[in-house]
Amino acid sequence: MRTHVWSVTEGDSPDSVEPLASIAQAGPAVSRFFPLKRLSGAVVRQAGAAIRKVGVVAGRSAIGLDIGTSGVRAAELSFGKSQVTLEKFGQVALPEGAVRDGEVVDPAAVGEAIKQLWTHTKFSGKKVVIGVANQKVIVRQVDLPWLPDSEMRSALGFQVQDLVPMPVEHAVLDFFTLEEFTNDNGGRMRRGMLVAASRDMVMNAVHAVQKAGLTAVSVDLSSFAVLRSLATQDALGMGAGVEALVDVGARVTNIVVHQGGAPRFIRILLMGGQDLTDAVSERMGVAGAQAEAMKQEIGLRTDVADGAVIASRVIEAAAVTFVDEVRGSLDYYEASTGSSRISRVVLTGGGARLTGLADRLQTATRAPVVAGNPMKSLALGRTGLSPEQIEFVQPLAVVPVGLALGAA
Ligand SMILES: Nc1ncnc2c1ncn2[C@@H]1O[C@H](COP(=O)(O)OP(=O)(O)OP(=O)(O)O)[C@@H](O)[C@H]1O
Ligand SMILES: [Mg+2]
Repeated sequence: MRTHVWSVTEGDSPDSVEPLASIAQAGPAVSRFFPLKRLSGAVVRQAGAAIRKVGVVAGRSAIGLDIGTSGVRAAELSFGKSQVTLEKFGQVALPEGAVRDGEVVDPAAVGEAIKQLWTHTKFSGKKVVIGVANQKVIVRQVDLPWLPDSEMRSALGFQVQDLVPMPVEHAVLDFFTLEEFTNDNGGRMRRGMLVAASRDMVMNAVHAVQKAGLTAVSVDLSSFAVLRSLATQDALGMGAGVEALVDVGARVTNIVVHQGGAPRFIRILLMGGQDLTDAVSERMGVAGAQAEAMKQEIGLRTDVADGAVIASRVIEAAAVTFVDEVRGSLDYYEASTGSSRISRVVLTGGGARLTGLADRLQTATRAPVVAGNPMKSLALGRTGLSPEQIEFVQPLAVVPVGLALGAA
C-alpha cells in the first residue's frame, strides 16, 4: 500500500503536520508483489498502478523507523527494478517510561536511543518514515459522500467531525478509499478507512526524531505498515482469502484483517506482552526484569515444573484475556460482514514469541496460525546480520519494513 497517512514538512510546529496529499492516490493496500491474476478486477487496476511505480522509484531507498514501547527499530530498503532489498536493520532498547502505551512521552530519551541506533547501524540517510499506533489514534471504516479527490482533503475535517472522538482541530486526519458505491437514495459515496490521530501525540514522535538529528518525512499508521509487509505472504497458496495479521507488541497489538491486500478491518488493541509480565510481577511480587524472565521461561506450557505452577497460572490467566480480545475482534469482523470467514492468522511481534500463544490463538479462532515473515519477499543486502540474527529479528521487523515499503 502506498498511502502515507500524513506527510510532515520540515520544521517543528504542530501546524507543519498536514493531512496527506496522497489521498488522491490512495488505493487499496495492494503490495507490488501480489500476483495480479489472483486479484479481483477492481483491485487489479490499482495493483497495476502500484506495480508500475516500482520502475519509477528504482534506485531509491527509504528508511522506516518504528518507535515501540520496548525499543526503536529501523529498516532501510532499496528499491530496484524488480526487487526490494533489505539493506540495513537495527534496534536499540528504550529506557522504561520513554514510550508509554505506544506513545512517545519523553522525546529526549527516545531521541537519544534513535541517535545510538544511527551510530550503530550505518543507515545511508537521515530521512525516515515513522509509524504510530496507540490510544490517541483511531481507525475505522466509514462511508462518506463522494467528492473529487481534490476537494476530499479540505472537506475531510468537516465531513468527519462527528465521527472522531476528538476536536478535528486537534487531529491529523486521513481517509483512504476502499470502494465507491451508490446509496439507497442514489447518492454517490466513498467507503474507506478514516484515520484520526492526536496532533500532539504525532508531534511528540516527530520531535523525538528531530532530537536525533533526523527528519520525519511522513507519519504512517503502524497497522498499515503491518499490512504492507505481510499481505503478500503465501499469496499463491491463499488466493484472496480473508487473512488476519496480528502483530503483538509490548503494549500495543495491531490487528489487521485484509483480503488480497485490501484492509477490511483494523483494530489497535492496547494490550501486549508487557501486560503478562505486569501480571507476573504483581501477583508473584517480583521485579519487572525477573517477571519478564519467568514469563519467557514458563510461557504457556502444559508441562510446568512444580516450582512454577502459580506463575504459570498467572501467565495463563493473562494470556486468556489477551486471546479473548483478539478472538473478539475477529468474531466482530466476521459477524459484521456475515460471510467472510478468516482463513488464517499471521502472527508477528515480540509478544508472539510467547511459547504456546500460537496454539492458543489457533484453538480460539479455529483458523490456522502461522508465523509471519516480512523478509520473505525481500532480497538481503549487506545487513551485517548473521542468518541467525535475521531469523531472530524477522517477527520484529514487520513495522519498520512496512513503513519503508510505504515510502516507495
Ligand atoms: N521469548 C519471549 N517470550 C515471550 N515474550 C517475549 C519473548 N521475547 C519478547 N517477548 C515480549 O515481546 C514484547 C515486545 O514486543 P515488541 O518488541 O514487538 O514490542 P514493541 O514494538 O516494543 O512495543 P509496542 O508495539 O507495544 O509499542 C515484550 O512484552 C516482551 O516480553
Ligand atoms: Mg511494536
